[in-house]
This record gives sequence, C-alpha cells and structure tokens, in this order.
Amino acid sequence: MLVAPSILSADFGNLAKDVKAICDGNCDLVHVDVMDGHFVPNLTIGPVVVEAVAKAATKPLDIHLMVEDNNFFVDLFAPLKPEYISFHIESEKHANRMVNKIRFLGIKPAIVLNPHTPVESIEYLIEDLDMVLLMSVNPGFGGQKFIPSVLEKIVRLKELIEQKNPNCLIEVDGGVSDKNIAKLKEAGADVVVAGSYVYKHPNGVKVAIESLK
Ligand code: DX5
Ligand code: ZN
Repeated sequence: MLVAPSILSADFGNLAKDVKAICDGNCDLVHVDVMDGHFVPNLTIGPVVVEAVAKAATKPLDIHLMVEDNNFFVDLFAPLKPEYISFHIESEKHANRMVNKIRFLGIKPAIVLNPHTPVESIEYLIEDLDMVLLMSVNPGFGGQKFIPSVLEKIVRLKELIEQKNPNCLIEVDGGVSDKNIAKLKEAGADVVVAGSYVYKHPNGVKVAIESLK
C-alpha cells in the first residue's frame, strides 16, 4: 500500500518540519489539499505555501484540487512539478481537455470522485489517467468519518481499470486509518491518503505510516 499523508492535518506553524517528518517517515507521496472556498466550504493554501511545502519535501507532491476553476489552479501549481494533479469530475465541464493539459505539462493526471459520483462517470477517461481518487468523505475537511460505500466503488472501479488501463492506480481519501486499511486493500486500493490518522498518531507519524503499509 502506498501512503500519501495529507498535510491538511499538519501544524501550519511548523509546516516545513511536519512535511520533513512524513518524508523521513517513509511516505510515498505528500498529499496537498487545495480548496478555493467555492467548490468546498473551506479555504486552504495557494502557491506561496505550496512552494514552501515543495522545498521541504523529499517525496513527490500529490496535489488534490477542490476548486471551481481547475484551469487557473493547474497553471499556478504546474511550475512546482508535482507528480500528480487531481481535479474533481464534478467541477470540470471539459475533463478530457483538462487531463490532456495536465499531461502536456509533464504531470500525471488524476480525477477525483465525490462519494455520490458513480465510477461510470469516468468510464471514457480512465484510459488517459494515471490515477483515480475516490473520496471516502465529503471533501472540505480533515478528521471526518469514513463512508463505507466507497468499498463497493473501489471494486467496480477496479473492474473498469482492468478492462481499460491496468496501470491506472486507485487512491482513496478520507477517514483512512488502521481500522479500515485491510478492507481498502482487499477491495483494490493502491494508495491511501491519511491526514488526522498520521498527524495525530500517539506514537508519531513514522509509526502511523508503517502501520498503514
Ligand atoms: C478532505 C481532504 C483529505 C483530508 C483527509 O477534503 O481531501 O485529504 O485531509 O483527512 P483525514 O485523513 O483526516 O480524513
Ligand atoms: Zn485530499
């Protein structure tokens, strides 16, 4: 299992230190949640802060856009050379064009689905994607309860991926912990995002990451 800790649950007064801690703790990706206050009812970080995160990180960035204007934010973050940029299918009228744009910029494109959005909505996009991110909470905040119906979605998505693009990864984001990690693996998840579980673990981030792996 690849582990992408979400820095949303980090201490923003000590952000560089908290980013270094997950990288030293053997995470695979650094998950960066970008929210615009419109697509989701929360506002997080822009290019100045993400640049500081990129400087502190020794692992690749996984930027999760929760925004209305994907075009604008992809242009802002592309110079930081993240490994992945993911955008929500619910906020994009021209998803194929956005996928092509991200790839043209040398970044791996990923699409995110809200808990209620069926996997069939991206059936004709899968062949162009490096990753699909399934939300297992409503996007906007860390520390929410895991929505179990995502497990069935993972299984259905895995079937589509096997038909259309077996190299495409499945990432799951929200409410992930040692309590549901085995079920996520069994269903077919390749990457998990974990914010509060990692940063609030009593034995530290390294132990938390190890426990998920
Ligand atoms: C929610 C974000 C998540 C969040 C996960 O909108 O996309 O990445 O930080 O936090 P936990 O792991 O606490 O649910
Ligand atoms: Zn996220």
